[in-house]
Amino acid sequence: MLEIEEVSIHFGNNPEVVSDATFTVNGGDRLAVIGETGSGKSVLLLAVLGLLPASARITGSIQLNGRELLGCRERELNQIRGKEIAYIPQGSGNGLNPLYTVGHQLCETIQKHRHCTRKEALLQAAALLESFGLEHGESLCRSYPFQLSGGMRQRVLIAMGIAAGAELVLADEPTKGLDRRRITLVEDAFHRLGERTLLCVTHDLRFAKDISSRVIVMYASQQIECGDSRSFFEEPLHPYSRAMLAALPEHGLHATMGFAPPRRDKDARRACRVYERCPWRSERCRKAPPLLAVGERKVRCWKYAD
Ligand SMILES: Nc1ncnc2c1ncn2[C@@H]1O[C@H](COP(=O)(O)OP(=O)(O)OP(=O)(O)O)[C@@H](O)[C@H]1O
Ligand SMILES: [Mg+2]
Repeated sequence: MLEIEEVSIHFGNNPEVVSDATFTVNGGDRLAVIGETGSGKSVLLLAVLGLLPASARITGSIQLNGRELLGCRERELNQIRGKEIAYIPQGSGNGLNPLYTVGHQLCETIQKHRHCTRKEALLQAAALLESFGLEHGESLCRSYPFQLSGGMRQRVLIAMGIAAGAELVLADEPTKGLDRRRITLVEDAFHRLGERTLLCVTHDLRFAKDISSRVIVMYASQQIECGDSRSFFEEPLHPYSRAMLAALPEHGLHATMGFAPPRRDKDARRACRVYERCPWRSERCRKAPPLLAVGERKVRCWKYAD
């Protein structure tokens, strides 16, 4: 469905913020992209949507169902966004317009992409809200965003994202700022996406484990590990992934590697990006490792070259 090949992104003359991202999202996949702040996750999603500012230089290829998106005209992209790709932006708990009712905002999206009357759109909006576990869809349509809890707003946004019928849903940090109970509601909403394909960026490992079938870990602009979720959460391969999972409360909060930002000077960029902090480092790690195949999984670490 979505094929990302050797995508690199720079802003001006700064070092790349995404380097050589290469992965495929197949129809029905639930792919979680995890990684620390600043590792290029949001920028990658924005590149797929064609929403990066003009100062961004992008190379590589991003294809949606065989159609190249990089270099697509704005008019074409406008059609694709919403109709083919739904987008739930970062920090979108506040993304609803406070001045309009939930129903008004949902109908606007529905009517933009489907030819129907206002009345039909309202009925669809109410049904959509209910399909996401929000009760009393009709009266909810008459509510303003401030009358809803954060978890409800987030679910309305997910519903709004897919109101136009998009098959591919991109979500950026959909649980940010929510407490555990509300996160459960958002997880539930994601489980209700049915056959849709999901590409979701998140910091929240527990959430990623719950909703994803596959995982990509990004670190300092690179993919460092990808594979199916179950194997990843049972036995992460990359030392950084291991440290990240060991730091979860249920694993005893072992901060084995620290989470300081990586060095960005030339020597450091030639070496493996986690060189400074890796418990397994050896001389060969002064040269950046490629993404190596380990069965069906991939990992950027020389240890697996043996
Ligand atoms: N418009 C921009 N102009 C210049 N640099 C940018 C721009 N947008 C993002 N960046 C830089 O790109 C890098 C990656 O940013 P990005 O927002 O993708 O991080 P992220 O992985 O989503 O982090 P977070 O988890 O905090 O959301 C950062 O160093 C950021 O400063
Ligand atoms: Mg981000």
